[in-house]
Amino acid sequence: MKAKRRVTTASMRASTAKRPEGAKRTPTVRRIRSAIVQPVPRARSEAVAPARAGASNVRAPSFDAAVDLSVDLGRGLVLPNPILVASGTFGYGIEYGDVVEVDRLGAICCKGTTLKPRIGNPTPRVTETPGGMLNSIGLQNPGVDAVVERYAKTWAGWKVPVIVNVAGESVADYVEVTRRLDGVPGIAAIELNISCPNVGRGGLQFAIDADAAGEVTAAVRRATDLPLLVKLSPNVADIRPIARAIADAGADALTAINTLSGIAVAPGRDRPLLGNIYGGLSGPAIKPVALRIVYEAAQAVRIPVVAIGGVTELADVLDFLAVGAVAVQVGTAIFADPTLPVRLVDELGAECLRRGLASHRELIGTALPARAGAPSAKGVEYRP
Ligand SMILES: Cc1cc2nc3c(=O)[nH]c(=O)nc-3n(C[C@H](O)[C@H](O)[C@H](O)COP(=O)(O)O)c2cc1C
Repeated sequence: MKAKRRVTTASMRASTAKRPEGAKRTPTVRRIRSAIVQPVPRARSEAVAPARAGASNVRAPSFDAAVDLSVDLGRGLVLPNPILVASGTFGYGIEYGDVVEVDRLGAICCKGTTLKPRIGNPTPRVTETPGGMLNSIGLQNPGVDAVVERYAKTWAGWKVPVIVNVAGESVADYVEVTRRLDGVPGIAAIELNISCPNVGRGGLQFAIDADAAGEVTAAVRRATDLPLLVKLSPNVADIRPIARAIADAGADALTAINTLSGIAVAPGRDRPLLGNIYGGLSGPAIKPVALRIVYEAAQAVRIPVVAIGGVTELADVLDFLAVGAVAVQVGTAIFADPTLPVRLVDELGAECLRRGLASHRELIGTALPARAGAPSAKGVEYRP
């Protein structure tokens, strides 16, 4: 195993390239840099095999033969294990090739991909917050054709499935990006980032409206036979009708959650800090929100739910499984320790062995309401 090394992506480097006008260099730059390279504070620990940063050369006991960690997300997409890396936090995977054993991951969700290249939002784009970070990268990416040309061939040689995260400003955008990805060797699935403004509906995000979320999912479903994951936004009053609309429209799985909308204030207090004003909050601070949304979505739909939000240690993985997730994605924590996701694979396998479980599947849904029957008076749906 390779030693731990800190990695920054091109969009993150761009984020820190310019200090905010009028701001003193030291505090702001320190804050932004630390958001990228400092360890994310741990929410808590649990009595499981210790997972010190930098201890990735200490392998957990071999569990390969004894424990089945595979995850079936439908339509033929079977992941070797339930630990994925989240979109926007692991580049295209290739950047991490000499730091991380990428082939030991459950899957890689690559950066958000749009029809045309995007230069992203004005700087500054990231800042640290208590227990997390705010980012407004703005979907910087070279466009779908360049993504296919530059990366797909490498992905095709990997064992790890690569899921391309797709973003757009209209249903037509999503459909066209998907068409260009469809059938390309090396692309295992599509994850729709629907937390994007729908230009045709006055800029209202697809993800906050059940009809719009269903419409874009159905259109993409018609455009491809690739497994289709759709990513939920936490910025809604009730996730359940949106989750159901997406499932009814033909998605194979849900992923939850994207970042929470937030702002930070510049040091001079004369304006918001981020160049785009708004940013997305991620990291341990959002885990309780992610747990609640996964808990609700897992009971509202019959398709699998993949959890994302503040995973920094095995205890977080176990918590998400307990509320009904079949797998988890690791995001912000990767900036502090790119080796964390692979270590979590080992730790989850070791934990199953320790508990005498043949599969992590026995850990899924243990914190959900056990009974089946009529929906409760609170409107919470029973688990199918
Ligand atoms: C710097 C950064 C860039 C991101 N870019 C994307 C993106 O392009 N598409 C997307 O669907 N989610 C994106 N996300 C959201 C993450 O995939 C994930 O949903 C979120 O950060 C919550 O997980 P975490 O708390 O483990 O980071 C991004 C997050 C960060 C921190």
